[in-house]
Amino acid sequence: MKLRPDEIASILKSEIERYEVDVDVEEVGTVIQIGDGIARIYGLMGCVALEKLELPHGVTGLALNLEEDNVAAVLFGEWEKIEEGDTVKRTGQVMSVPVGDALVGRVVDPLGIPLDGGAPIETTETRPLEFKAPGVVDRQPVKEPLQTGIKAIDAMIPIGRGQRELIIGDRGTGKTAICVDTILNQKGQDVICIYVAIGQKASTVRQVEETLRSNGAMDYTIIVSAPASEAAPIKYMAPYAGCAMGEYFLYNGKHALLMYDDLSKHADAYRQMSLLVRRPPGREAYPGDVFYLHSRLLERAVKLSDELGAGSLTALPVIETQAGDVSAYIPTNVISITDGQIFLQGDLFYSGVRPAINAGISVSRVGGNAQRRAMRKVAGRLRLDLASYRALEAFAQFASELDDATQQQLRRGQRLVATLNQPQYSPWPFEEQVAAIWAATNGYTDGIEVSDVQRFNSELIEYLRAGGRVLEAIRESGDLSDETEAELRSAVESFQESFQGTDQDPADPAVGSATGAGGDGGTESNASDGGAQAQAAQDADAGADAGDAEPTTAG
Ligand SMILES: Nc1ncnc2c1ncn2[C@@H]1O[C@H](COP(=O)(O)OP(=O)(O)O)[C@@H](O)[C@H]1O
Ligand SMILES: [Mg+2]
Repeated sequence: MKLRPDEIASILKSEIERYEVDVDVEEVGTVIQIGDGIARIYGLMGCVALEKLELPHGVTGLALNLEEDNVAAVLFGEWEKIEEGDTVKRTGQVMSVPVGDALVGRVVDPLGIPLDGGAPIETTETRPLEFKAPGVVDRQPVKEPLQTGIKAIDAMIPIGRGQRELIIGDRGTGKTAICVDTILNQKGQDVICIYVAIGQKASTVRQVEETLRSNGAMDYTIIVSAPASEAAPIKYMAPYAGCAMGEYFLYNGKHALLMYDDLSKHADAYRQMSLLVRRPPGREAYPGDVFYLHSRLLERAVKLSDELGAGSLTALPVIETQAGDVSAYIPTNVISITDGQIFLQGDLFYSGVRPAINAGISVSRVGGNAQRRAMRKVAGRLRLDLASYRALEAFAQFASELDDATQQQLRRGQRLVATLNQPQYSPWPFEEQVAAIWAATNGYTDGIEVSDVQRFNSELIEYLRAGGRVLEAIRESGDLSDETEAELRSAVESFQESFQGTDQDPADPAVGSATGAGGDGGTESNASDGGAQAQAAQDADAGADAGDAEPTTAG
């Protein structure tokens, strides 16, 4: 075959015409400005939002602002080495993190790099940081409980698998403590926990890790840590990275629990980044899309439909308030995004209510659906009694003469509050919570000193564990049938007989006069005389309340 010269020329011409140089501008750009971990890049015309970019020295970029003639990217790694004029390559991928079972038991940074000194993470799977949340048809209602093991929460502010429940309060009110206890309580529950620490001191995160490890809870936990010393972009990434790791389990039909501790610091990191890329500041100088930032994160918490495997992702975001101000910008945002909040209060904490939950303004909008029947039965009564106690408490401080009914309500309320107190690292199983709350709401603690209530509860549980099968029946059926309730009643009554109150407080006027009249022997004999003791305390107390200190039964 022979080609004529003019044909060759025309082919060449058309080839040249078709030749495009846009490849370069699309795929490769140049750094035109660098500073504060942010690069402005010329070129990269085809770049998409949140795309991963490659820079020299192993630095990774994340395209944040797509502007008309440049792209602003935040940099991860040794960004100080980047200079103006360096080339930047597109990867065509949205930023992603390694996910998989290999991460369980590890402490990693938001890029999935181990921080625990262990071996590199062996996993081939990755998931994008940003992932569209499932729509309504892909979801099903939240109805399986996610037990925290904390009596006050499981009884009054129940959390379900797939729910978003905010933990909010000032610094040092026990927010992290609730997260840790909730993780401890997931042992054997088939829930993978992911604790995302944002902007905390590295030593604090270390402590959490130690606690979890020594309690065997790291076997089902991942810690994603972006400590305070890290650059803002790393902190910004942390909750998305944790969420992506959780979604791996979610979409494999499993259950994951995510804790973001805390989103206030996340919002601050985002504000810092946004101001650096010159986004216009809005309310409290946060960028306008900070609401959207958190809503698209929390929207990813879900209970999937059965067709999609029925996995769940539960989210417990944490917000730190300043002086209890829940009406600041970030707190109101996150309150409105979540399905309820657990409100922790400093003055309660210091007055000895721990966990310092203000039950009056804490809610769970999923509520009783996520509770088992037995708990629903006892908790209704608890809420009512506590509410009337709170209503009376304030004004009872001023009233000197109170009628018997009011006194009884106050007495009951104080004992309920004491029943709900709980030290850290001691989660209660569901059936034991039910038994303790049942006893308190049915007046079995009314006759004992407030300071004895905790001991009464723990001894009661030991007693129930040792004899009979009441606890087992509650656990297995999830219900408190009439029959079980009768069994529980007789068990609690016989336990109550044997319960010994502590030596009474000598400051107590009733006891003071009792010892005055009967000598030292009065209180001593109480301690040895077990059965009569509870009764004696009850009578002594009733006497004191009525202003009548006659020591009738003390001796
Ligand atoms: N239920 C509790 N009982 C006793 N101490 C608690 C309880 N919850 C928290 N604390 C203590 O209170 C302090 C502050 O708790 P932390 O969870 O770190 O608060 P936050 O995360 O709100 O700043 C810690 O020293 C913790 O041990
Ligand atoms: Mg904390």
